[in-house]
Amino acid sequence: MTAQPNAAAPAGSIKLADLTVHRLGFGAMRICSGYTWGMPKDRPGALQVLKQVVALGINFIDTADSYGPEVSETLIAEALHPYPAGIVIATKGGYTRPNEGSWVANGHPDHLRKALEGSLKRLRLNCIDVYQLHTPDPRVPFTDSVGALAALQRAGKIRHIGLSNVSVQQLNEARRIAPIVSVQNHYNYEDQSDESVLAACERLGIAYIPWYPLGAGQSLKSAKLKKIALQHGATSVQVALAWLLARSPVMLPIPGTGKLAHLEENVGAAGLRLSAEQMQTLR
Ligand SMILES: NC(=O)c1ccc[n+]([C@@H]2O[C@H](COP(=O)([O-])OP(=O)(O)OC[C@H]3O[C@@H](n4cnc5c(N)ncnc54)[C@H](OP(=O)(O)O)[C@@H]3O)[C@@H](O)[C@H]2O)c1
Repeated sequence: MTAQPNAAAPAGSIKLADLTVHRLGFGAMRICSGYTWGMPKDRPGALQVLKQVVALGINFIDTADSYGPEVSETLIAEALHPYPAGIVIATKGGYTRPNEGSWVANGHPDHLRKALEGSLKRLRLNCIDVYQLHTPDPRVPFTDSVGALAALQRAGKIRHIGLSNVSVQQLNEARRIAPIVSVQNHYNYEDQSDESVLAACERLGIAYIPWYPLGAGQSLKSAKLKKIALQHGATSVQVALAWLLARSPVMLPIPGTGKLAHLEENVGAAGLRLSAEQMQTLR
C-alpha cells in the first residue's frame, strides 16, 4: 500500500463554508457487511481501506449512524482517530434500522439530539464538521427537524449543517432556519432526474453530493461510458466519476467501496479530463 497524498487533488477543491476539501470524497457505507448491516467479515481489511482513503489525499468522508448501524462510524474512528488535520467527516442522522432491509425515517427533534450524541461518541469528537439530516420525515414538520439541528449548531455540537434527499422547496425552507453547506441527493450518469436541486446548489454556491455516483455499480454496464473509457485507457467507473466532476463545479462525488483496488481505481478519476466532444457524446 503506497501513500499518494496528492492522488485526490487533481479533482480540485470545494468549500463547505470555512472548510475546504478535495472534490472527490469517499462514501463509507460499503465498508459494513451486507447491505450496510453489521461488522464486515474482514474488519482489518475495512480499516485498511479507510487508512488508504486518507493516504490517497481524500479528505471528505461521508457516513451515517444508520450505516451498519453504528458500524461505519465506529470503524472510521478506529482507523483514523486522532484524525489528521484537514479531514472532514460528514455524518448523518434521521434514519433508524429495525432490520437489514428497513430504513425508517425519524426526524423527531428528540431522536436527532440522541443520534447526534451517539455519532459524537462513536467518532470521538466534540463537534461534527458536517451533520446532515439524512431524510425529511413525513411524520414530523421538516422545519422542526432542521430547527433541532440549528439548536445543536448553536450549542457548538455541529459546525455546519447539510441536507439529504430534499427538494428545492425544502432546501429553501431549511435556509430560512440555518445556513446549509451541502445537499446529498441521488444523482449519477444513469439518473439525472435531480437536475433542479443541482441547479439550486450551483446558484447558492453550496456543495452537491451525489449519492450512488456509480449508480451502485450500474455505471460499469453503460456502453457510452465504456466507449469513452477505451479512448482514455481508463475504466467506465473512472469516466462516470470524471463526468460528474465535469458536470458541475459544486459536484462532490463520494464513491463507495469496501475494496482497496476499487478505491485506488476510483481516485484515478480525479485527474481524468473529458473533452467537450466526449461530454457531448455522454449527453
Ligand atoms: N444520503 C443517502 O440517502 C444515501 C444513499 C445511498 C448512499 N449514500 C452515500 O453515498 C455513498 C456512495 O453510494 P454507494 O456506495 O451506495 O454507491 P456507488 O458509489 O454508486 O457504488 C458502489 C458500488 O459499486 C461498487 N464499486 C465501487 N467502485 C468500484 C469499482 N472501481 N469497480 C467496480 N465496482 C465498484 C461497490 O462494490 P465494492 O465494494 O465491491 O467495490 C458498490 O457495490 C455511500 O457510501 C454513502 O456514503 C447516501
